[in-house]
Amino acid sequence: MYLYDADGNQYLDGSGGAAVSCLGHGHPGVIAAIKAQLDRLAYAHTAFFTNEPQERLAGDLADRFGPRDSRVYFLSGGSEANETALKLVRQYWVAHGQAGKGIIISRNQSYHGNTLGALSLSGNPQRRELYGPLLKNWPKTEPCYEYRHRQRDESSEGYALRSADSLEQLITEHGAENIAAFFAETVVGATLGAVPAVPGYFRRIREICDQHDILLVLDEVMSGSGRTGSYFAFEQEGVVPDIVTIAKGLAGGYQPLGAAIVRGFVHDGIVDASGAFSHGHTYVGHATACAAGLAVSDIVRREGPGGEGCRVRSRGCSLRSGRHLPITPMWGMSGAGGILLVSNWCKTVRRKNRPLRMWDCRKRSGASRWRRVSCVTRPAAPPMAGMVLTSCWRHHTYVATATSMSWCRRSRIHSTRFHSDGVVSSLAQD
Ligand SMILES: Cc1ncc(COP(=O)(O)O)c(C=O)c1O
Repeated sequence: MYLYDADGNQYLDGSGGAAVSCLGHGHPGVIAAIKAQLDRLAYAHTAFFTNEPQERLAGDLADRFGPRDSRVYFLSGGSEANETALKLVRQYWVAHGQAGKGIIISRNQSYHGNTLGALSLSGNPQRRELYGPLLKNWPKTEPCYEYRHRQRDESSEGYALRSADSLEQLITEHGAENIAAFFAETVVGATLGAVPAVPGYFRRIREICDQHDILLVLDEVMSGSGRTGSYFAFEQEGVVPDIVTIAKGLAGGYQPLGAAIVRGFVHDGIVDASGAFSHGHTYVGHATACAAGLAVSDIVRREGPGGEGCRVRSRGCSLRSGRHLPITPMWGMSGAGGILLVSNWCKTVRRKNRPLRMWDCRKRSGASRWRRVSCVTRPAAPPMAGMVLTSCWRHHTYVATATSMSWCRRSRIHSTRFHSDGVVSSLAQD
């Protein structure tokens, strides 16, 4: 889990880069699988040929996904996977004679990627700002973010329903006949920091989507591939989406790989009406990338959450005990945990039971000052051990994501000091 720079400084890569290197660096099993694949076949265009690792990995993922006859479309990353999901959704509704369904609803404080379609889905104002005129301004609903939005006199169950029902209000406003899909991260990653929904939220979302004939797409680019204690985070929510997108941990950073997994009826609807999905990239189903994905998937099955020798839960409990951190507790879902750090000013506002909006925070804080923060958090399932701190909203609220940590043995955070741009000045030492 360590990286070294040109001057020999050692870095604990606690988050595995952008929540990618779920097996750490230099795993001999994955490296061997990639080398063996290169000896056989590095690449052959999947417009003409399929290849063995692609077929095997597709079978593996379809089995894990659950519904019969599910299909997998391989890409090179998370943004591509979400672009592909957008096009699948569109082609599905056109195939069903509902070409008017052109609106996609997603959520504020979300991130689905940096390509234009994926950025249009994303409720991340900073990343959107520059490209505003190029993006679609599709409607956004609020995330299920209990810490910010649950009222003091409201139960978690009540909040889950109220939060999900805000989707229904948007649907009524825009007309179900115009809405193609609802996109959400099962666990919000980059823009909130390992924030799962309140139990019951996604079950209600699933009902609303079914009721209004809207496809449900879950983005598990960050939270999928075993990171949260089950292969897909939605397994813990008691729902199955119509499409799920994954990337990052899918090939653990050993190769660039993403995928969109669709239920059989979506695939069949498209293929029956038009013969094929009208889409493609040069590296779709890249043989070497899929070989890496297959090797990672096998290792996650053996050694990942639930597997033998996995220390995720014990390390997470140890972290939550507060022995290693100046701040506790944490939130998250098993393999992905976070700490919310907010200023005393935010705490005061929260105590007064006023829903705190991020823009309030930004207004209050200077842009380029160093800032020490104190911490308010909510307890959660045990996170993984070790962590890296990343900024969520530039000027005020910082989120720590703890991911991929079962291989970190001795990490310890000594100091949490932040730049206004979120760069961690001192992170971890042995
Ligand atoms: C939830 C989610 N979706 C999509 C993406 C985009 O993935 P990529 O950077 O591989 O294009 C990310 C990246 O952080 C992500 O966290």
